[in-house]
Amino acid sequence: MKRRPHESPPQDIPSSQACPEWKETLPQKFLRHVFDAPLLRKPIWKFWYNFAARVDGRAGHLKLMNFGYAPEEGGKLLPDLEPADEPHRNTIQMYVHAVGRKPLDGLDVLEVGCGRGGGAFSLMKYARPRTLTGLDLSPKAVHLARKAYALPGLSFLQGDAENLPFPDSSFDAAVNVESSHCYPNIRRFLAEVFRVLRPGGRFYYVDFRRIADLPEWEGAVSESDFQVLEKEDITADVVRALTRDSARKEDLMRARIPRFLHPAFRKFVCTVGSENYQSFIEGRRYYYRYLLVKD
Ligand SMILES: C[S@@+](CC[C@H](N)C(=O)[O-])C[C@H]1O[C@@H](n2cnc3c(N)ncnc32)[C@H](O)[C@@H]1O
Repeated sequence: MKRRPHESPPQDIPSSQACPEWKETLPQKFLRHVFDAPLLRKPIWKFWYNFAARVDGRAGHLKLMNFGYAPEEGGKLLPDLEPADEPHRNTIQMYVHAVGRKPLDGLDVLEVGCGRGGGAFSLMKYARPRTLTGLDLSPKAVHLARKAYALPGLSFLQGDAENLPFPDSSFDAAVNVESSHCYPNIRRFLAEVFRVLRPGGRFYYVDFRRIADLPEWEGAVSESDFQVLEKEDITADVVRALTRDSARKEDLMRARIPRFLHPAFRKFVCTVGSENYQSFIEGRRYYYRYLLVKD
């Protein structure tokens, strides 16, 4: 697969917000090792997403938590969003781009890493599966999802991507959006999704990795039991979405988040000028879309 270059920032980024050349500091290096440690990874992410749900919870500004997808031509993949969904356009479009338009009619679908349920709810509206079961490690996120979204066929439960609490061959399709970078054992996760899919089941999968972690990720996918039908580098479309949504996230942060947490929040939601944002632009981090199938 051809990787697209991302060396220069998109035209619409104010130059005052561009980062100087990035060098990892010792505290940053320490934190990266802590987050990467296999034994710590799950409890740390669980704590973090519980905490994030508590901070933003009642207001529910971040109904979807992925970085978003904005295609080149005017950024609109879906021309016909409901008005309440418009602020969340790019994050909804990430789901729609992951699954393609309306391929889920009448299917039983599992979403692993559903967060606060906004993506699952959007899929129910825009892709119309028969049932959609959302699963997430964070009980607080699942609580918010249950409270916010009640539709026939839509349900949420707490659980772990590496130990899916379902019998073999339970679903026709699976979705995973920007969650697998949190999992300590990606091969186990892929084997679990394969197990719970029915024969012919499709797995719609999008996520990012630092360039140093790409070989392990790509190896795990290509050596899994899935057949890889499609693989696409969508980094440029993600950067476009991040750029467009940055001001909204900054406003939200100033209104809701204690000042001492601003640097962590900026990094987490990848606002313009944050280290994570810059890493996408400079080709130190990539965002991929996979379409996998269980033959
Ligand atoms: C960046 S959020 C994305 C959420 C959702 N897909 C969206 O786009 O709004 C990542 C989610 O993955 C969940 N997660 C992390 N580790 C997990 C695991 N081992 N099993 C299930 N979910 C997990 C987190 O709790 C969090 O809700």
